[in-house]
Amino acid sequence: MNKNIVILGAQWGDEGKGKIVDWLTDHVGAVVRFQGGHNAGHTLWVNGAKTVLRLIPSGILHPNVQCYLGNGVVISPTALRQEIEELTAKGIDVISRLNISLACPLILSSHIALDQAREKKRGAQAIGTTGRGIGPAYEDKVARRAIRVADLYQTESVLTQHVKELLDYHNFLLKHYYHVEEVSVDTVLRDLFEFSDYIQPMVRDISSALHHVRTMGHTILFEGAQGALLDVDHGTYPFVTSSNTTSGGASTGTGMGVNIFNSVIGVAKAYVTRVGAGPFVTELHDATGDKMAKIGHEFGSVTGRPRRCGWIDAVALRRSVMLNGLTNICMTKLDVLDSFEEIKICTAYTLGNRLLHSSEFPTHFSALAACQPVYETMPGWKTDTQHISRFIDLPQKTQNYLKRIETLIGAPIEIISVGPERNQTMFVNAQTLF
Ligand code: IMP
Repeated sequence: MNKNIVILGAQWGDEGKGKIVDWLTDHVGAVVRFQGGHNAGHTLWVNGAKTVLRLIPSGILHPNVQCYLGNGVVISPTALRQEIEELTAKGIDVISRLNISLACPLILSSHIALDQAREKKRGAQAIGTTGRGIGPAYEDKVARRAIRVADLYQTESVLTQHVKELLDYHNFLLKHYYHVEEVSVDTVLRDLFEFSDYIQPMVRDISSALHHVRTMGHTILFEGAQGALLDVDHGTYPFVTSSNTTSGGASTGTGMGVNIFNSVIGVAKAYVTRVGAGPFVTELHDATGDKMAKIGHEFGSVTGRPRRCGWIDAVALRRSVMLNGLTNICMTKLDVLDSFEEIKICTAYTLGNRLLHSSEFPTHFSALAACQPVYETMPGWKTDTQHISRFIDLPQKTQNYLKRIETLIGAPIEIISVGPERNQTMFVNAQTLF
C-alpha cells in the first residue's frame, strides 16, 4: 500500500532533515517540497562527498525518484538554475526528474533588495532573515500581485505589463522609503524570459501530478523546510519565516487533501539550535554551548552564520508534537552529546514566579523570552555512538535519555541518527513507518 509521509523540522530548523529524507527515499517513489525557498539548506553526505541542496528536494540523489516543488514553495530563478546546473555537473539527471508547480511565486531581485533593506532599517530589532527575498515574495503572494511560474507563459506583453506594475511598486518603496538603489525592470524581464524557456520542460500542475503518483500506488514523502517553531502562524512570531512550516503546509502547499497523510515525522536534534534572532529558552552562553557548536559544526549551510546552541527543550518539542500531529520523532545528532559528563533536558518553564502548566506556551515572543528553563539532569553516556547501528546496542544511558524525552513529549522516537553519513542512521522499528 502506498503511504504518504510528511517529514519536517520539529524545532527551529537545521535539524538534519535533508539527510533523513535522503535516507528514507530508498522506500518512496516521490519527494515533494511544500513551502519555503532557497532559505533552506539541506546538507547531504554520501560516501564522503558533500552536497548542499537549497530548493530541490533531497530525493534528487536517488535516480528512480521523482522530485516535486509544490505551489507553497517560492522560487528564485537564479538559485534554482544554479542548483540544477551544479547537480547536473555532478552527473545527476535533474531536468527529467524535477517537476515544478505552475503556481509557485517567483522571487525577483527586488524582493531580495526589499528583504535586505527592511532588515537594515529594523536595526537592533532585525529578524535575522537569510536576506534572500523570502518574506517579500510571500507578501506579494498574499497581496495577489506575485509573478507566478504560470505568468511566464502568458503573452510577452501581458508578462511585461505585470512585471512593470510590480516593480513600480517595489522601486517606489526601495527609493522613497528605504532610500536604496532601484532595480532595473529590463534586467528582471530579460532574466524571466530566459528562465521561462529553461524551466518549461519541468513545469506542470503538481496537484494533478501527485494525485497520479498516488493512484500508481507510490509512497510520497512531503519534505518540510526550516522548522515548526519558525511557522508564520504558530512559531515565535515575528521571529519566524513567512510560510507554514507545520504539517498543514503539506496540504496547502501541494494541493493534496488533508486526509491522505499517514504519518508525520518530526526531526529533532538531541539538543537545540537557532539561527537569527528570537526567543530561545534553553540557549547556552557558556563553554557547554560552545562545545555543542564545535562538535556539531553548527554553522549555517546556506549563510555560514554561527548557530545559537542549547539543551533540548521538551516543552517546545511537546508543543511541536501538538502543532504538527507528529506520529514519530527522528532524533538527529545524538552523537554530538557523546562526550558530555551530564546532559540536561528542559522539562518546564517558569515565568516570573509561576511554573507554567505543561500545555502552556507563551504566544507573545516577549513572554517566551522571559521564561526560564527548569532542567532535569541525566548522566552522560561517555561512549562513541557513531559506529552503532542498532537501537539495542546503544548504551543504556543513551536509551534512558531517549525514553525520557519520549515520555515528556508524548511521541515515539522511531529513527536515530548518530553521524552525517547515510549509514549512520537506525530505525527503532521500521514496521511502524512503512
Ligand atoms: P527568512 O526565512 O529568510 O525570512 O528568515 C526568517 C527566519 O527564519 C530567520 O530567523 C532565519 O534565520 C530563519 N530561517 C530561514 N531558513 C532557515 C533554515 O533553513 N534553517 C534555520 N533557520 C532558518
